[in-house]
Amino acid sequence: MTLNLTRIQPLDDDSISAAVTLWQQGHLVAFGTETVYGLGADAGNALAVTHIFKTKNRPEFNPLISHLPDQDSAFGLAMRTTLAEQLAEAFWPGPMTLVLNRQDHGQIADLVTAGLDSLALRVPGHAGARELLKAVGTPIAAPSANSSGRLSPTTADHVADSFHHHSEPRLIIDTGPCQKGLESTIIDARGEAPILLRPGSVTADMIKDVTGYLPLLPEHKNPPQLLSPGQLASHYAPRAQLRLNATTIHEGEAWLGFGTDPILPPDTPAANLSPDGNLDEAASQFFSLLHQLDATGVKTIAVAAIPETGLGVAIHDRLCRAAAPRP
Ligand code: TXA
Ligand code: MG
Repeated sequence: MTLNLTRIQPLDDDSISAAVTLWQQGHLVAFGTETVYGLGADAGNALAVTHIFKTKNRPEFNPLISHLPDQDSAFGLAMRTTLAEQLAEAFWPGPMTLVLNRQDHGQIADLVTAGLDSLALRVPGHAGARELLKAVGTPIAAPSANSSGRLSPTTADHVADSFHHHSEPRLIIDTGPCQKGLESTIIDARGEAPILLRPGSVTADMIKDVTGYLPLLPEHKNPPQLLSPGQLASHYAPRAQLRLNATTIHEGEAWLGFGTDPILPPDTPAANLSPDGNLDEAASQFFSLLHQLDATGVKTIAVAAIPETGLGVAIHDRLCRAAAPRP
């Protein structure tokens, strides 16, 4: 499918089938929800998900919310808890995201969760958004459809303005102005008591009415950070130490390469982010390969230098956090 310059389309049968095709081809489609417009990609396609970070110019890999058309498909990807069931019954479909332990079998790329074992799930309240999600039949990962640092988009025109110099999203489905205009409330529902990760229009009092608990706030040292839960929650730390900008391997290390590998001793646990030095491919593989090497039980993973341009900035950000001394 070629780039359609009239990228904004009303929600109808034609635009729904165009959106499904584009998602299946690994493109981005923006769509309205009751909170804000989302910049969606097939959550199972890691390369498609890299387009989200690239298009938004997001300098780090914050984990993304996966969107589903109904409760059953959402709970099919995660470990249910009594708390989550209570909240879902009360507030889904609607402006609430639940963080639960992952239980998907490859439907969600590791890049979506930024390597975490948890997963953020939302069943949007907007009927048009749910219609799209039902039609595509796979979870759709979507952050707000704005360039990093710009205001959250609440109309299709906001989205088009943000991305008029970009080839993605290929399509913006106009579902009208967002009713709520504020991103969803994010609740960690893995335990017995809810933890409010991001306030939104499902308020603490509403959560208390349903669950009996006034939600706890995440522990934080610096109150402004409360508003960006990704910063708090996404510190993916491999068990192994990382040695960055490696050019050779030391005894007992695993190797995570980029571009041409040096000669490695036989039986070295090794993986390559992109033998061709392609940063999109590297970003799409990053968390999965790090997990894979970490699982071998090595003490140290030597990581080749990654250029700090484009998506390389985000890869670098994550590598530095993962390599930082543990508290
Ligand atoms: O209303 C919304 O939630 C919109 C629409 C499009 O659904 N989406 C949205 O996405 O606001 P985004 O990417 O701007 O914010 C997602 C937030 C991030 O702050 C991220 O850190 C947090 O969700 N998040 C995602 N997965 C998480 C996880 N496993 N644990 C904790 N926080 C998570
Ligand atoms: Mg956002």
